[in-house]
Amino acid sequence: MIPSERTELQKNRGLASMSAQETKQKLLPPVVDTSTALREEISRARSSGRTIAFVPTMGALHAGHISLIEAAENSGAYVVVSIYVNPTQFSPHEDLAAYPRTIDADRAACRDAGVDLIFTPDDAEMYPPGDQTRVHPGPLAETMCGLFRPGHFEGVSTVVTKLFNLVQPDVAYFGQKDAQQALIIRRMVKDLCIPVRIEVCPIVREPDGLAMSSRNAYLSTEQRSRALCLYRALCEGRDMLLHRGTGGSGDQGIQHVVYAMQNTVAKVASPEPEPVTIDYMTVVDAETLEPATKPIGRVMLAGAVRIGETRLIDNLLIDLPADRR
Ligand code: PAF
Repeated sequence: MIPSERTELQKNRGLASMSAQETKQKLLPPVVDTSTALREEISRARSSGRTIAFVPTMGALHAGHISLIEAAENSGAYVVVSIYVNPTQFSPHEDLAAYPRTIDADRAACRDAGVDLIFTPDDAEMYPPGDQTRVHPGPLAETMCGLFRPGHFEGVSTVVTKLFNLVQPDVAYFGQKDAQQALIIRRMVKDLCIPVRIEVCPIVREPDGLAMSSRNAYLSTEQRSRALCLYRALCEGRDMLLHRGTGGSGDQGIQHVVYAMQNTVAKVASPEPEPVTIDYMTVVDAETLEPATKPIGRVMLAGAVRIGETRLIDNLLIDLPADRR
């Protein structure tokens, strides 16, 4: 723990006359940056009878993260947020160096949301010298974003396993925006017998529908307006599946939906001044992520596009009746 943080923590504990809620609202949450200090704080919370809720993040907190923190808060648990930009989930050409780092604002947001403890490890803490072990996810990681970001989900699975081992939470919160990540983590905790409950919270959107993302900060005003092409495309697909019909049966109908989503991206994000590139637009089974072959049951419409250097992802879940053609 940073010495000034310790003083602050001690000060926090000294404020006996304030209610716990008042105290949390007024003071910045303590920050620990070593596993030893983290374990000390968590074991203190556990001995006072609290359960532990965990929200892993890479910082640059926005309303999407805050909704996860609020869900954790509502469980009544002691809430730990980690802020760590994990290098192993970025490919060499990706935005690791540019990824927004906004610790002061993040800390204030955590205070406002009532977070109990922030964990900000550095690379040496998470990947000790000589580090060589990785958690390799299965087929869920080999589709959609996995095809365009090789090694990404291995990096995510590895760091989340380490964070789970350090925090040992009872429950951990992830966002549906990263739907593939959430499914991989759910599978991973089952497969590796990690005793944590995974909660997945709904996507938080801007008023015009754009999914909240730390990467939205990269968009210029002009790019921001074209970024809506992704959400519009997903809505177009949803509308066809739920209301207008796909104009084909089974597989063919799904293909029509995919074409319609691709066309909507092209239409909404006009090619000027720079083209929007589609990594994928797809309709998949919401649990297995295998391509949907029939418009039946719970499906996910998902997409990833690149606007300039910025890669955006989004998805919509829909439930289709079993007797649909
Ligand atoms: O979703 C994220 O922000 C990251 O992938 C996570 C889960 C914090 C792991 O680095």
